[in-house]
Amino acid sequence: MLTDDQLRCFRDQGFVVVEDFVDRANCGALRERALELVQAWEPGEHQSVFTTDTQERTSNTEFLESASTIWCFFEPDAFDDHGGLRQPKELSINKIGHAQHDLDAVFERFTYTPALAEVAHDIGLRDPLALQSMYIFKQPGIGGEVGCHQDATFLHTEPLSVTGFWFAIEDATVHNGCLWAAPGGHRTGLRELFKRTGADPVGGADLTRFETLDPTPLPIPPDQLVPLEVPAGTLVVLDGLLPHWSDVNRSDTSRHAYTVHCISESAHYPDWNWLQRTPELPLRRLDTVAA
Ligand code: FE2
Repeated sequence: MLTDDQLRCFRDQGFVVVEDFVDRANCGALRERALELVQAWEPGEHQSVFTTDTQERTSNTEFLESASTIWCFFEPDAFDDHGGLRQPKELSINKIGHAQHDLDAVFERFTYTPALAEVAHDIGLRDPLALQSMYIFKQPGIGGEVGCHQDATFLHTEPLSVTGFWFAIEDATVHNGCLWAAPGGHRTGLRELFKRTGADPVGGADLTRFETLDPTPLPIPPDQLVPLEVPAGTLVVLDGLLPHWSDVNRSDTSRHAYTVHCISESAHYPDWNWLQRTPELPLRRLDTVAA
């Protein structure tokens, strides 16, 4: 699947861009399904989760529990001062996460493909489990920044194995908030771990905190990163240690993307990771044949 040049690029740079990995029709089908999920989603009392301390705890509960569900997360800028939506729901959602690849047939078919399993094999990811998926809308006008980070901070195994598979569902440019990456940055150390630290004494979900491993600053965007402007259908494979970032989207076009993060089944996945599946929904290998 991957050429020698692509494999060398992944090894040397920590990422590789594979254009035309998915055809436009499949991108369109996933986009349509994501919009259907949003249309069908009723936020109910959770609509204004971003405004007070109590609501932040509620938000954290939803975040932690989304490991085994399909949940729609709002953009913080989606709400006005009274907690109402400034614009239609379908233009207010930040992302859908984090188990749609195991709970929705369209997402399942997009994720569990021989081609993706082959890419994982090519880069040396042994026994890949599809740990987490996100459909990211990067909405026009309000799509938020994703700060510079390493994925191994948030999805940690011993030894490190997390690998990101990022699919452009729409064209991504510097204007609508494309990915930026630090070439070679995967050869630097892991800066932080994001850990669950036990139950909130006030009665909410588990609390979380960052633990510093290496105080070396991450590259500062945008100057120390390079933009990955790619057309729809492109796959970008990201090493779990690679620092990457995406800017706000202040343009009038959305930048939909889909990501799947995989870990190696043979690596240890500590129970302090924020993302913990319920026993009823075990992780599946990437070479699972979709129904
Ligand atoms: Fe990431």
